[in-house]
Amino acid sequence: MTTLLHISTSPRGAVSASNQAADVFLQALPDGVTTRHIDLAERQMPEVTLHLTNAKQKAFIGAALTEEEQREWDVIVAMVDEFKAADHYLFAVPMWNFTIPYRLKQYIDLITHPGLTFTRDENGPRGLVDGSVTYVYSRGGNYGPKDGKPDPFDFQSTYMSAWSRMVGLSPVQEVLVQGTMAGPEGIANAVAGATDQLQALAAAIA
Ligand SMILES: Cc1cc2nc3c(=O)[nH]c(=O)nc-3n(C[C@H](O)[C@H](O)[C@H](O)COP(=O)(O)O)c2cc1C
Repeated sequence: MTTLLHISTSPRGAVSASNQAADVFLQALPDGVTTRHIDLAERQMPEVTLHLTNAKQKAFIGAALTEEEQREWDVIVAMVDEFKAADHYLFAVPMWNFTIPYRLKQYIDLITHPGLTFTRDENGPRGLVDGSVTYVYSRGGNYGPKDGKPDPFDFQSTYMSAWSRMVGLSPVQEVLVQGTMAGPEGIANAVAGATDQLQALAAAIA
């Protein structure tokens, strides 16, 4: 059985450009792919606390955790297990002030830890997550690569690509849904422009 984990971030529900584009992808998935969904706009997430940062450091060096630290760390390990239990990943990510929404950053801060999602060996960091990933990036403007180089204001795709490499997600596919600030028509045009690519990427999921 093939499992795809769909992570959405926009609080805008069905009018969201990234959610509409993700739906095109999901509709085009082959039979036999099971999907799970984490909606980060709705999900209750823990805070990064003193206990949690202590637990992270102690887990790293193999030291004993206090009861409070263990309680908070167990929640993190469960979140990591939930994240890793997939073969493919689909992230629907709006651009907020040139980068990713803060709730996605909070999620990443909660699930990215040495020994759980990455490790290090003589060659540097090595990811402990298996799976391909498709990112749908919605943006009001146009932050696509210019002359083969990333737009200098694009801290959204560049950040997610770097994080993907760190945790081991590969290959990384990107779908740009741009120019979305021109009302519903602008969103419809942006999603329509990305539809062929979204359907082809979904069809390739095995
Ligand atoms: C808090 C916030 C910050 C934004 N910052 C940017 C930005 O830096 N650049 C940009 O092009 N669009 C920006 N936008 C517009 C969104 O990227 C655009 O509306 C996108 O379609 C939102 O995705 P969604 O429709 O899936 O929610 C911002 C929107 C919000 C709500």
